[in-house]
Amino acid sequence: RENYKMVLKEMNRTAAIYFNYLLTATSAGKHALEYYHDRGFSDETIQRFGLGYANIYENDLYQYLKKQGYTDAQMKDSGLVRIDERRGGQDMFWNRAMVPIMDINGKVVGFGGRVLGDGTPKYINTKETAVFDKSHTLFAMNIARRSKRRGIILCEGYMDVIAMHQAGFDNAAASLGTALTMGHATIVKRYTDEVYLAYDSDGAGRKATMKAIGIMREVGISTRIIDLKPYKDPDEFIHNLGKEAFEGRIADAVTGIVFEIDGIAQGYNLRDPEEKIRFTKEAAKRLSALDEPVVRHSYIEAVAEKYKIDAADLKAMVTRYGTIGL
Ligand code: UTP
Ligand code: MN
Ligand code: MN
Ligand code: MN
Ligand code: MN
Repeated sequence: RENYKMVLKEMNRTAAIYFNYLLTATSAGKHALEYYHDRGFSDETIQRFGLGYANIYENDLYQYLKKQGYTDAQMKDSGLVRIDERRGGQDMFWNRAMVPIMDINGKVVGFGGRVLGDGTPKYINTKETAVFDKSHTLFAMNIARRSKRRGIILCEGYMDVIAMHQAGFDNAAASLGTALTMGHATIVKRYTDEVYLAYDSDGAGRKATMKAIGIMREVGISTRIIDLKPYKDPDEFIHNLGKEAFEGRIADAVTGIVFEIDGIAQGYNLRDPEEKIRFTKEAAKRLSALDEPVVRHSYIEAVAEKYKIDAADLKAMVTRYGTIGL
């Protein structure tokens, strides 16, 4: 069992080295190398993350792995190849920019493959295998866990993580195109109790941020939310405004509770007295979840001031929610 897992990891590593060779040392990979360069990734970054290129041929990797001695059954179990009854081994990734995904110990367990340019699907990821458990794997966590920077930055995409690391933010990691789970949070908690959320600034990203704040709170991690506007994600932000500006956004990041209450406020017309009361109740409910009395009190004051609510009224409401445990 453990032995077989080692075989699968070794095969993934062999594939990563092959994809990296195609990218950096063959004419087949030239356009993919150009793609990475156009995105602003340096050759040093490409080597650091072991980035690669999957060839255009339908069984290029299959043939290569076969020559290395791997069997059809092993290749199928790695998720890199599927075995077609008529055509034999067929690669899962064709003509894509390949990002190896490593486990916490730096062993390659899967890949994300991006289409070069526009096209769908934008990303294909290796399916779950005996060695690739998406709900317990965070991209680049093997590097981020050793960072000297404060906390861990979580974002949505591989390219965001790579762009942040290149800019010096080597405490960045990402869940793999799946929602953040308690499994991810538990892993992060081993290394820090402070997380910066840098999800995309679109509607989906805001929703994911709200969910992540709750999950992190459950495992005892405090959150701060990095505002990326007017840009869509950390990659675009850094590309356009640079690392000093990103450092500034980290310094200005608001706490999870402030982000939640600001988000709630957007759903109400606060000039309407009825709606303002409903907003105040929602805000009070959120504030009552803060266990530490000193912290809770200071946020009550801050919210009361920002939204022009009587602080004593808000405090009474928070106490009431706290008592009935809603
Ligand atoms: P995004 O659509 O925000 O992509 O998806 P991105 O990371 O900004 O990609 P670029 O900058 O256009 O290259 C965020 C993450 O969601 C997953 C991937 O993990 C991606 O990094 N995803 C997205 C998929 O798995 N499949 C898709 O088709 C799209
Ligand atoms: Mn170039
Ligand atoms: Mn997105
Ligand atoms: Mn992007
Ligand atoms: Mn994005």
